[in-house]
Amino acid sequence: MQRVNTGHVELARAQQERWDSAYAQRPQLHGSEPSAAARRAVELFGAAGIDDVLELGSGHGRDALFLAGQGFSVHATDFSEPALDQLRQTAQRDGLDDRVTAALHDVRDPLPPADATVDAVFANLLLNMAFSPSELHSLVAEVRRVLRPGGRFVYAVRTADDPSSQYCQQLADGLSAHDGFVGRFFDEDLVGELAGAWQLDELRPYDEGRRRMLLVAMTRPPAGT
Ligand SMILES: C[S@@+](CC[C@H](N)C(=O)[O-])C[C@H]1O[C@@H](n2cnc3c(N)ncnc32)[C@H](O)[C@@H]1O
Repeated sequence: MQRVNTGHVELARAQQERWDSAYAQRPQLHGSEPSAAARRAVELFGAAGIDDVLELGSGHGRDALFLAGQGFSVHATDFSEPALDQLRQTAQRDGLDDRVTAALHDVRDPLPPADATVDAVFANLLLNMAFSPSELHSLVAEVRRVLRPGGRFVYAVRTADDPSSQYCQQLADGLSAHDGFVGRFFDEDLVGELAGAWQLDELRPYDEGRRRMLLVAMTRPPAGT
């Protein structure tokens, strides 16, 4: 069993290294098919007349490239430079580099956009990462800050009844670890807490391969609510 750092700063650094080495050892780690959440996001963002999407935790960009191929302009971010390098190379190869940009960003830090300047935020399997509950609340508050009133946030997470949770080592603070990756399995209570004063549009369990997932779609209410 791999030893896992659970101190706050050490954990963050160790997870970044773990993801960097995973992407370096296995390019295109997540495959080239878009996630089910990205397919749903295209429907939801399209229906809302959205053109621009900020993606958090994009990895090597299977969803960013899919969204770009569907006509959206995508700004993809991740804290792994090897993953972003792969994303940029694929975007160039596929002629999508005019519609996809990629930038290094750790979502523990404030999001770069100014207040109320973003139409939509998308994050597949990011909120499951090694965040404390207070980091999760700060992240969702940051998403809300950058979205325009009426802006959409679509995210998807693995849930507590995911079969792989039984192979994980339990850590403090509701986190668990497997093969050096640390994360959190979600339940609907946590989704509800994070939804706070948002308008919750969709909360849908689904299976994706062997993963048991939950798709969450929320709207930032108009200013003053
Ligand atoms: C399970 S992968 C999902 C990648 C991509 N969304 C997909 O579905 O193909 C999780 C991603 O989150 C990124 N990540 C983890 N912690 C992060 C953080 N604190 N800030 C930014 N990205 C992070 C990892 O580098 C990894 O690319």
